[in-house]
Amino acid sequence: MIHIENLTVQFGAVKPLDNLNVTLDVTICGLIGPNGAGKTTLLNVLSGFITPVAGRIDVDGTDLLSLSPIQRVGLGLRRSFQTEQVVEDLSVYDNVLSLLDHVGVRGEEAAQQVSRALHFTGLAGIAAQIGGELNLYQRRMLEIARSLVGSPRIVLFDEPGAGMTENEGETLRETLLAIPDEFGPQVLLIDHDVDLISATCEKTLVLDFGQYLTYGPTASVLADDIVRKAYLGME
Ligand SMILES: Nc1ncnc2c1ncn2[C@@H]1O[C@H](COP(=O)(O)OP(=O)(O)O)[C@@H](O)[C@H]1O
Ligand SMILES: [Mg+2]
Repeated sequence: MIHIENLTVQFGAVKPLDNLNVTLDVTICGLIGPNGAGKTTLLNVLSGFITPVAGRIDVDGTDLLSLSPIQRVGLGLRRSFQTEQVVEDLSVYDNVLSLLDHVGVRGEEAAQQVSRALHFTGLAGIAAQIGGELNLYQRRMLEIARSLVGSPRIVLFDEPGAGMTENEGETLRETLLAIPDEFGPQVLLIDHDVDLISATCEKTLVLDFGQYLTYGPTASVLADDIVRKAYLGME
């Protein structure tokens, strides 16, 4: 559970997040809104890349904002990036293994966890291939695999389906749905594909130009006139 209170991020005159208050209280939670709404900014605040000017974030009783990014990884926070970040000259296997350096899991236990994450994401067959050789789908699945090792508690995905074909998107959907049961974390999912959000997210938060628009059961959120207007404004 992620409890966010009075969260404000400011760059000069721009407030990518403006006094956000919400408790993300479902296992798979959607995060949508037009371009520039502040979605990635929220993930950056959660993972510690951006320091807000005000606010508090509580994760199961832990004051998240008092922790460094590495301490947050230790706590079980994981993320993927809107522009996928795969180490080009490391193998698929080592890309996943390297995350475990930060959480002190080594040896046989590390090998088992990496292997499990690679099987789960369908990458076991290309474990030895280097990052630079992967296609977009494989890169996105690799980011997911990396987020599933070392006892993840909260996993943040920033548009993992962007650029995928329909078939790939279906595999992604099945993968996302299986994460909580298989690995245990809460998932926060940003995506523009409302079908993916509908199929996976019990509740969804909508942001619009840094402002909270609504949060609730995904079906009713997507049917909301104000939400539709915010989206239509974009497209
Ligand atoms: N480091 C930064 N410096 C200045 N402005 C930023 C920075 N990061 C994000 N912004 C601004 O914050 C707003 C929200 O951006 P972002 O969170 O990336 O939106 P989204 O992911 O919803 O498309 C945009 O107007 C963007 O230009
Ligand atoms: Mg973004």
